[in-house]
Amino acid sequence: MGDNVILVGFMGAGKSSVGRLLARRLGRCFVETDDMITAREGRSIPEIFAQRGEASFRALEEDAVRLLALKSGDVIATGGGLPCREGRPEALRALGTVVWLRGDFDAVYERAQRAGARPMLAGRGRDEIEALYRAREPYYRRADLTVDTTGLNLDQVVATVLLLLRGKGSSSTLSPLGRGQGEGRP
Ligand code: S3P
Repeated sequence: MGDNVILVGFMGAGKSSVGRLLARRLGRCFVETDDMITAREGRSIPEIFAQRGEASFRALEEDAVRLLALKSGDVIATGGGLPCREGRPEALRALGTVVWLRGDFDAVYERAQRAGARPMLAGRGRDEIEALYRAREPYYRRADLTVDTTGLNLDQVVATVLLLLRGKGSSSTLSPLGRGQGEGRP
């Protein structure tokens, strides 16, 4: 198995902010599959969706997964839909430790709408997005570790991930530690 740390979860789960801080704490490089795709294509994710459609974007994700095999010791944040194909959770687990940032749907939905242009949200109502979330859960659940981010701020989520990574094997799921101070929510 590879030695990367791979973050998975729905849009708005906090993969980017958690990944960035986690990488800093671990002294590792931070990589985002969406950035790999936009850098290679020379256009933004909304442009790729608008000009070529979702299927093309998913093919680019496939390429990105293949390129991840070259990574070693990195913290990798994946796009929300990337793990949700047959065999994909296992392909990610071969690259390192997969961590699912699991959030309460309402919180995740609210955050996903607030930050960034997300083509998967465009033109879809809340019920449709919740159905997508539920359909994706079985894929996310195949992660090595799960962190329930409900009620945790960014610092606490990162601390929880670090704790789980260090104690890997003893427990695979950790629940909220409580509320309080820190660097803000993921
Ligand atoms: C997607 C999530 C996005 C991005 C693309 C598709 C999805 O990443 O990969 O817009 O299908 O859930 P984030 O999870 O970082 O928003």
